[in-house]
Amino acid sequence: MTHRKKLIAGNWKMNKTPADAVALAREIVAAAGQRTDVDIVICPPFTATESVGKVLDGSTVKLGAQNLHPEKSGAFTGEISPDMLRALFVSHVILGHSERRALFGETDAFINLKVLSALKNQLRPIFCVGETLAEREAGATLKVVQTQVEAGLEGVGREAAADLIIAYEPVWAIGTGKVATTAQAQEVHAFIRMLLAKLFTEPVAQKIRILYGGSMKPANAPELLAQTDIDGGLIGGASLEARSFGELITAAAAK
Ligand code: 13P
Repeated sequence: MTHRKKLIAGNWKMNKTPADAVALAREIVAAAGQRTDVDIVICPPFTATESVGKVLDGSTVKLGAQNLHPEKSGAFTGEISPDMLRALFVSHVILGHSERRALFGETDAFINLKVLSALKNQLRPIFCVGETLAEREAGATLKVVQTQVEAGLEGVGREAAADLIIAYEPVWAIGTGKVATTAQAQEVHAFIRMLLAKLFTEPVAQKIRILYGGSMKPANAPELLAQTDIDGGLIGGASLEARSFGELITAAAAK
């Protein structure tokens, strides 16, 4: 089996002014030190992208964004293009987060355009999928995830696929303190990897990292990160403090 380096990504969501973001980024850089055994990405809000980027310069912590618009430029009031992100040295971008799907009406088809645009513009997508509580209770989890994966990745070529990062985030576990059991998470991660193998071949699927997201904390991370197909975490709440985020980095390094 291919060894996949663990990845810990912080999704700061709509939190932190630029000044607060810079302070947190400095603490995270200090906590990360020079370690290269775990990949680390932080995704501040757009208003702090540039200032946080300056803090990360020369560190091992990479800069991510929380969204993009697929077009290069034009009449898209309020939107941010891949070129704008690249100009600020952004390397990763969260796409298809359940909050974007549920609160801002993003469809699989639109998310697919974003994934294709990100890959074309040398941005690594952190492509999110996951079921709601109602869908899980109806026994539809795997079907929902399959649709999201297949629709969101339509048209992605085998070579570009190696740059993908997938995040499985059960919606009912996000910000609720209700973490998926390791068995629930591993089952879906293994299923996603099987879908990736069908789409891109088994060797490519073995290279793609699949992160878990949803109330991941230092206390529950070691068990989750020990699962065969869980290659890291996409962290919301616990990424807003350097201490807990640092503990998650340490937990990932230990696996
Ligand atoms: P929490 O870690 O706050 O549950 O958020 C997870 C998430 O949505 C990361 O994208």
